[in-house]
Order: sequence, then C-alpha cells, then structure tokens
Amino acid sequence: MSIRIKLLLSYTGMLIISLLVFVLTASLFTIAATGDIYSFRDFYKVHYQLNPLTEQEESIFLELKYLAKNEPDELQNQELLLDYDFKLKTVRAGLYVRRESNQVFESHTFNQPELEQNLPPYDLNNNQIRNTFNIGERFYAYAKFDFRFSDGAKGSVFVIHERSPFGEVIRKLLPILVLILIGVIVIANVLLYRWITRSVVKPLDILRNSAENIKEGNLQFSLDLRSKDEIGQLNEAFENMRKRLHESVQLRLQDEENRKELISNISHDLRTPITNIKGYIEGIRDGVADTPEKMDKYVNIIYSKAVDLDKLVDELFLYSKLDLKQVPFMFEHVDIVGFLDDCIDELHYVLEEKSITLEWDERAGQSIEVIADLEKLKRTVLNIIGNAQNFMDKQQKIIRVSVQASPEWVTVEIRDNGMGISSEAIPHIFERFYRAEQSRNSSTGGSGLGLAIASQIIEGHGGSIWVKSELGVGTSLFFTLKRKTNQGGTETHGDTHPHH
Ligand SMILES: Nc1ncnc2c1ncn2[C@@H]1O[C@H](COP(=O)(O)OP(=O)(O)OP(=O)(O)O)[C@@H](O)[C@H]1O
Ligand SMILES: [Mg+2]
Repeated sequence: MSIRIKLLLSYTGMLIISLLVFVLTASLFTIAATGDIYSFRDFYKVHYQLNPLTEQEESIFLELKYLAKNEPDELQNQELLLDYDFKLKTVRAGLYVRRESNQVFESHTFNQPELEQNLPPYDLNNNQIRNTFNIGERFYAYAKFDFRFSDGAKGSVFVIHERSPFGEVIRKLLPILVLILIGVIVIANVLLYRWITRSVVKPLDILRNSAENIKEGNLQFSLDLRSKDEIGQLNEAFENMRKRLHESVQLRLQDEENRKELISNISHDLRTPITNIKGYIEGIRDGVADTPEKMDKYVNIIYSKAVDLDKLVDELFLYSKLDLKQVPFMFEHVDIVGFLDDCIDELHYVLEEKSITLEWDERAGQSIEVIADLEKLKRTVLNIIGNAQNFMDKQQKIIRVSVQASPEWVTVEIRDNGMGISSEAIPHIFERFYRAEQSRNSSTGGSGLGLAIASQIIEGHGGSIWVKSELGVGTSLFFTLKRKTNQGGTETHGDTHPHH
C-alpha cells in the first residue's frame, strides 16, 4: 500500500473516530447531566419559556396588558381585538381572550380546536406570564396576563406564537448539521492530505527520481529541497552522498587517465635507451665496429645506455613505491647543517669538474636538528642540486645553498643562476615525467621524475616544497622540514608553515 493511500485511510479513520467519539460524549454528557434523551426537548422549551415572543409581539402584549389593567372591558370589544389580532398576524402570532372559561376572542391564525384545553388556568397573581405548551406535534409559546373585568369576572389575555415544532426543527436542522459536519471532515481531510503529500510524498518522489538518476550513472544534478524536517535531513544526506559519489567517480576517472599516461610515458622512456642499445649491438654484429677502438666506443655507449636504463627503472620503482606509500620512512634526529655539509663534500669533485661554484651558507657550524629520513633526504637534495647543475647555462656558474630556521620549521633553499623556469611550467615541475619545453629539447633532460620523487619525500616528512624562478635568471628551490622541538617530540600541530 502506498503512503498516499495509507495517509488517506488514516486521516479518514481518525476523523470518523473523532466524530463518533464526539457524538458519543455529547449524548452521554446530556444523558448524564439531565437524566434522559428528551431533555433536548426541554432545552428547547426553556428557551421559549424565557422569550416566547418577538420584540414586536412583546410590545403588542404590553399594550394589551396595559389595557387589561386600566380598561379591562375594552378587551371584549371585538373590533379592537380584531385590530390587534391583525397586527399580530403580520408577525405570525395570534391573540386569545378568555372570560371565565368562555372564549371571548380567538385568532384565526392557529385554527386549532384543542387550543382551549391546553391554555393554562386563571391565576390572578400572574406568577407565570411566559410559557410554552404543545398540542400533538405543534409547539406554541405564549405570554399571558390574568385580570378581572369590571364586573369581577376572571379574564385572561394571551399572545400566542406558534413555533416550529420540536421534531420539525430537528428534522430540518439535522441534515444540515450532518452535511456541514461531513463537509468539514472532507475539507479538513483534503487539506491535511494535500499538506502531507506536498511535504512528504512529493519530496520522496523527487528523491526516488534522483536515485534512479544515480543508478543510470548520472551524478551531475543537484537536489534542491529546502525543508527542515526529516525529509529535509534525508535529502541533505542524499545530496552529500551524491556529491561524494560524484567526487569518487571523478577521482577514479582521473586515476584511470593517470595510469594510462604513466604506462605510455614509461614505455616511451624505456624504448629510447633500448633502441639505442639495439642499434649499437646490430652495428657490432654487422661488423661496423671493425677496429678495436670502434669496438671499445660501441661497448662503452652500450654500457652507459644500460646504466641510464638501470637508473630510470630504479627511479620509476622508487617513485611508484612512494606514490603507493609503500616505502617506510625511518625518521631520526638529523643535524641539517652537518648533513648538508656532507652532501656538498660529496659533490665537491663533480662540481669542480663542471667549474660550478657552490656557495654554502654554513651558519658558522651551528647545528639545527630536524626530524628526517636521512637516506631519502639525501636523495631529495641530490635531485635538486642535480637539476641546478643540469639546467645551468651561464658562464659563471653559481649554486647557493642556505638554511633558515624558525622555532618549528627549517627551510632549505637551493638557488642557481641557470636557465630558470617559465611561469607556465612552474606549476607542473613536481609532476612525474614533466619536463619544461626548453629542457626537453636539450640533451640535459632526464626522465622528469627527479622533482616528483623529491616532492613525495618531502610530503612524507610532513613538510612542503616549492619553487621560485625567473626565466633566464635562475631558480630557487625551497623545502621545509619539521624542527626537533625542545621537548624532543615531533608534535608541531597548529603551526603554520609556508606552502608553495
Ligand atoms: N634548477 C632548474 N633550472 C631550470 N629548470 C629546472 C630546474 N629544476 C627543474 N627544472 C625543470 O623542471 C623539470 C622537472 O625536473 P625533474 O628533476 O623532475 O626532471 P628532470 O631533471 O628533467 O629529470 P630527472 O630528474 O628525472 O633526471 C626539468 O625538466 C626542468 O625543465
Ligand atoms: Mg632532475
């Protein structure tokens, strides 16, 4: 059964039940309060006992009463009585005058032979002026005044108004009441039903449509149902789910794309040295290397290509392991100044050979402790200094290494005066296999993994790496490392550090 029908049934059921309960309590209450069901009739009577006549009738009655008190004999004057009766007739009432037990005047309004018997007896004290009586189903209200005629005979004057009989009132009113009640039920039902369907069923429909959409793989819509109730919350949760799903699908597509690109890059990079090696070996086989010198040269070339290949496979392997977060980091306390000192010592001969001046801002042997994985940090520094050497294009070649320390972080800067990096290339140089155009054409270009590895390593340390460069002027590479705190811990939460 759908929610719609359930709601419809429950509303109708609820209203019928409340109606029944209402009727039941009302009748129970009446019976309890008055003793029997006929007391309805009594209520009706009491009302007319209190005000049997309309205002107009009442004023005529007062005139008659005045007459009865002052000139009672006038009430035997048929002409006068007819006059009054005529006035009363226009307001659907009638006049009756009695002398002893004889009728002096009876209005033709009623045409009711039993009227006489039903009128109350004479009572000079006029205790009860207003009352009601009924003849069969017909119901009358009256006001009466008792007096004496001048000769001492008992006289009574009645102004009588026939009210619609009790039964008829009920018969007339009941259907209207029932109709009104049913109308109220139906209207209330329809309104409530519409309200609930609007706020529950419709949003659910929309949600279901969205779910279908998602099933079909369409995630690019947005649900916009603003309500604060449970449906609203459900909708919000659903919308969040959709966003997440969308993101993860996007991510998966991106990953897929990356993977394809990676494979094509790798095969391209591996093919070049292999083709070279194949070429030289074919040369040897075909007898092109016919002198020992040529042979030597060929073998050396083959060897160096094999070394290149080996290095490339190594780098690839390291990069992919870093990317998969499969390399454990062995953190220890390292004196960054001493460490850089050692690196520079190692590079001394290579740099001298290329006549590069290395300026090292040693900070007078001051030691600054950082938390780092020594081996990987070394790899990073060598990659960066390697780039500085490779992309050098000036006569006077200078590389400058310096260290800056804040209480929480240590920043290492490696600056060169080489060819620099174009501003379009800067955002990409930490991407794997990325080589700026000017280096791609030159012989210096490597595989484009050096900085990708360096950035993976620095990220693994919780630091950051960034670059500042001006084309033709030089490049500065910065990276930060967490400093060993005084407590000896590695906690540096809440500290800000520069990002590239
Ligand atoms: N110091 C620098 N001066 C000028 N360009 C640089 C410098 N460092 C990096 N680049 C540019 O950034 C690119 C990426 O550097 P990265 O070290 O990742 O790759 P690579 O040096 O080309 O290859 P690999 O390091 O794997 O042998 C380089 O190809 C080069 O274009
Ligand atoms: Mg490099």
